[in-house]
Amino acid sequence: MIPAPLLLIPGFFVCLLLPLTVCEEQQISKDNLLVLTVATKETDGFRRFLKSAKHFNYTIKVLGQGQKWKGGDYVTAPGGGQKVRLLKTALEEMKKQDKIILFIESYDVVFASGPKELLKKFQQTRHKVVFSSESLIWPDRHMEDKHPHVREGNRFLGSGGFIGYLPNIREMVADWKGKDNDSDQLFFTKIYIDPVKRKSINITLDSTCRMFQNLHGALDEVVLKFENGRVRARNLLFDTLPVIIHGNGPTKLQINYLGNYIPNTWTFENGCTVCHQDLRPLTALKESEYPMVLIGIFIQQPTPFVTVFFERLLKLQYPKNRLKLLIFNQEVHHERHVSSFLHDHGNLYQNVKFIRPEEGMDGPASRNLGFDMCRKDKDCEYFFSIDIEVVLKEENTLKILIEQNLPIVAPMITRVGRLWSNFWGALSSDGYYARSEDYVDIVQGRRVGVWNVPYVSSVYLVKGSLLRSELTDSELFNSHILDPDMAYCHSVRNKGIFMYVTNMHTFGRILSTENYQTDHLHNDLWQIFENPEEWQERYIHENYTHIMKDKLIETPCPDVYWFPVFSDVACDHLVEEMEHFGQWSGGRNKDSRIQGGYENVPTVDIHMNQINFEKNWHKFLLEYIAPITEKMYPGYYTKAQFDLAFIVRYKPDEQPSLRPHHDASTFTINIALNQLGPDYQGGGCRFLRYDCSIKAPRKGWALMHPGRLTHYHEGLPTTAGVRYIAVSFVDP
Ligand SMILES: *[C@@H]1O[C@H](CO)[C@@H](O)[C@H](O)[C@H]1NC(C)=O
Ligand SMILES: *[C@@H]1O[C@H](CO)[C@@H](O)[C@H](O)[C@H]1NC(C)=O
Ligand SMILES: *[C@@H]1O[C@H](CO)[C@@H](O)[C@H](O)[C@H]1NC(C)=O
Ligand SMILES: *[C@@H]1O[C@H](CO)[C@@H](O)[C@H](O)[C@H]1NC(C)=O
Repeated sequence: MIPAPLLLIPGFFVCLLLPLTVCEEQQISKDNLLVLTVATKETDGFRRFLKSAKHFNYTIKVLGQGQKWKGGDYVTAPGGGQKVRLLKTALEEMKKQDKIILFIESYDVVFASGPKELLKKFQQTRHKVVFSSESLIWPDRHMEDKHPHVREGNRFLGSGGFIGYLPNIREMVADWKGKDNDSDQLFFTKIYIDPVKRKSINITLDSTCRMFQNLHGALDEVVLKFENGRVRARNLLFDTLPVIIHGNGPTKLQINYLGNYIPNTWTFENGCTVCHQDLRPLTALKESEYPMVLIGIFIQQPTPFVTVFFERLLKLQYPKNRLKLLIFNQEVHHERHVSSFLHDHGNLYQNVKFIRPEEGMDGPASRNLGFDMCRKDKDCEYFFSIDIEVVLKEENTLKILIEQNLPIVAPMITRVGRLWSNFWGALSSDGYYARSEDYVDIVQGRRVGVWNVPYVSSVYLVKGSLLRSELTDSELFNSHILDPDMAYCHSVRNKGIFMYVTNMHTFGRILSTENYQTDHLHNDLWQIFENPEEWQERYIHENYTHIMKDKLIETPCPDVYWFPVFSDVACDHLVEEMEHFGQWSGGRNKDSRIQGGYENVPTVDIHMNQINFEKNWHKFLLEYIAPITEKMYPGYYTKAQFDLAFIVRYKPDEQPSLRPHHDASTFTINIALNQLGPDYQGGGCRFLRYDCSIKAPRKGWALMHPGRLTHYHEGLPTTAGVRYIAVSFVDP
């Protein structure tokens, strides 16, 4: 007896299960198979079809290339007669009678396996012509009764794919006299439901989808099956592995989805290898030969870290004389940021166009304009669209995207800690967001690749040639119902143009623009809650993370710790913010102003709460100071509570120093906010009990010391310039 598992191995053992005749019949040679398809246009779907065919070594002959399509759009009315006409002509010209012809659609079709498996399954049907099957009848429901019943599976014929011997197919189409816009589906159905013709041509249906899987009406039945580094689509209803998958009718997006995996050799580290066959490497090019890119920058709401955006733009790895800029700004608040960037760096770029808020242009119009500028500029090879809230951390993003050589491609960006990203994996039936099965895995980087998706936004690259050929509508972003981005993606999908998102690199993230207030000078300082990563990158010292790791913490005096915490920018922004606010306390007269009477040694200062910064400051202490406190003073735990936190100004002619005192704190944090030498002379801090001084404060470094009892201290005189420090009395 043969052990059960062996029975599943295709090839030899299959014979044992089938009648002897089939076994005696020789397996048809792969060389005899010819795939015929009609494609009047080279769509992205057609290119995908060819790639998948090439992958499995199918021999393809394309009919109707370059001809005008007159077969209808299948949406408003059935059509497709032109395909039958072209097929008929092609078959008449063929000489070799033993050919097996596979006739299929190509725009929405991918191969999931090779010719050998297809031919074997075809032979096993013991028929001369086999059509794909459908569970739904189309286009004429009245013919239902005339369809023969099938033992198992779908009862209706699908004209999107069939396979058969050349003479039989020739016989089948011999009578075609229809118009190009007549229905091919109806034509073949009528032949099939005619018992005489069905028998004489010897037609059957692949009713359990062993060869052909039409997705329409079968979406719930088809799943992806990952096994041994390969992917197959499996039909769960019939437990079959179809060879050809067809996203017919309204299932075009599903075939795009499946096309991300099929026919790839799949590993979880590496997706969508098929996408990478036609790369456009830039490395061999001289800088002057780089494709010209028009970068469209869109500022449509008050947004934090706009200056950082422009700093990053400047660092984008691409020859600037191959870049043109269009900056659209709707926000008066950001005028100075844009102007200052353009003033300092605008002339590096080949061309700059700046649309100001006063011009009253709306968002969709500006995006239409951007596309149009590229369209009309024959040098414009790409339009790179980027919204101001996008944080592109990867400096090579533009190069990486160009090298993908895809019609529209977006770098995946996400919102930290959330499942939000700038692409959709699927669409709901009404065209809005739907979560695809693989969405979370892609966003979280468990599946990596280049993905065909139905919607991208915020940042993406579009080929200029596409704008000049397929996407010529000058109002792509306009819609009465849809958001501009959705309207645009809708048009792109309708044209059969593929949009991709890549997560092959970590490109960056998107900022939250919620709760962004514009009433301060440096509003970004207030972003520690809303955009903590960006805040940290901007304001925390670059070596902060080395404090513990590399023991980058000094002990200049007993129990006094000294470590880097603020970036230069943080120091400058805090000082400028306070000077901008300007309400410095009157030094020695201040005592009475403080309620609770803690502050017994008055300074010239502004308190954090005077600029509504106390919650942010507390968060800063909690996140960046408390961990160090707890490490250096083992056994002490702090929630970083404070009553007093303020910025002190020392000036020779105002208040140059501070007399010896205890602080009303368990521990004190004292951060130097400017630079000894360029900014001031003198200054520093002396701990009397130890007769120990820190005389060369470092900008951005914090001193941490116990407040009461032991660390009686004084502020040493500032002898020239102005010195600023940020002081916090923690756990009073
Ligand atoms: C296709 O043909 C090439 C060259 O003959 C071969 O190396 C490759 O393995 C074939 N691919 C498949 C999927 O059979
Ligand atoms: C098909 O085309 C003919 C002209 O060739 C036209 O008269 C007829 O209305 C078209 N039919 C459909 C259904 O579009
Ligand atoms: C189709 O042809 C095969 C022989 O190749 C025959 O066994 C079978 O009965 C035929 N089927 C029909 C429906 O005529
Ligand atoms: C951070 O540390 C490195 C290595 O010690 C040093 O070269 C660099 O200047 C430091 N950065 C700052 C801002 O001090």
